[in-house]
Amino acid sequence: MRRAHQPYADAFAHHYIDFAAPGAEATMATRLRNVGLVTLDGLASRNAVLAFATRIMDLVPHRDSDSDGLTTIRDTHRHVHRAGFAGLGNGGLEPHTERSGTPNPPRLMLLVCRQAAVIGGECLLTDGQAVHSDLFAGEREAGVALAQPRTAFFGAGDGHATQVFTVHHDLRVSVRLRFDGLARWNPIVEPYLPKLRAAAVRHQVSLALTPGQGYLLDNERWLHARRAFTGDRLFWRALGQPLFLMPRGFTPAPASVRTPMLSEAG
Ligand SMILES: [Fe+2]
Repeated sequence: MRRAHQPYADAFAHHYIDFAAPGAEATMATRLRNVGLVTLDGLASRNAVLAFATRIMDLVPHRDSDSDGLTTIRDTHRHVHRAGFAGLGNGGLEPHTERSGTPNPPRLMLLVCRQAAVIGGECLLTDGQAVHSDLFAGEREAGVALAQPRTAFFGAGDGHATQVFTVHHDLRVSVRLRFDGLARWNPIVEPYLPKLRAAAVRHQVSLALTPGQGYLLDNERWLHARRAFTGDRLFWRALGQPLFLMPRGFTPAPASVRTPMLSEAG
């Protein structure tokens, strides 16, 4: 599949912030508000990840998280083919946002490498602002359809009726997405799913994280995915709500500001 021209050679270096530097919290908060993505290094232990995470977010527990609130992401060899558990296998993951089937997904997601894969396993991140712009370019029908309220149902029986693009009263936009077996679609958006998937892949940037490196993203803006892998890849994940102010969603790119305000509930 065609990939977008990468706006920078090294996504990790481009988004990097030294979290130990003076004023790092304020820099991170600004970057998360404006861009939605920060990369980090020096998180060499589980305790270091936990200490960093609790500086910036109120941790939100997850079905798979441990008692300290972090989730260990590795191939458990026990979850193959179970819908919603693909992250605990070694397969590739399609672009998605975290906890899309819940009314209020965690705003922040931190993912840190403890051990890299032998082959593959790169993190693939997509700026939802770029996807949104693509789908509102040209004839715009795709973006308009994907912003129609309750055109997607994400999750199992207790999931959530929602839409890919939620347009807020101030015209900022939040994204939610999954393509796996826990996504069901209204027929009015189905024709646009190939275009959505293509845009989500075309704008991906790849991060080949090494131990101690990680990323922190705005889960209302950035999609995450990963390549399939071999080896004992092990990552730690924290999900939570920011301890600093973040207005809902992101500002659409100028070409797509004519987004009609179709959906607020989400
Ligand atoms: Fe995920």
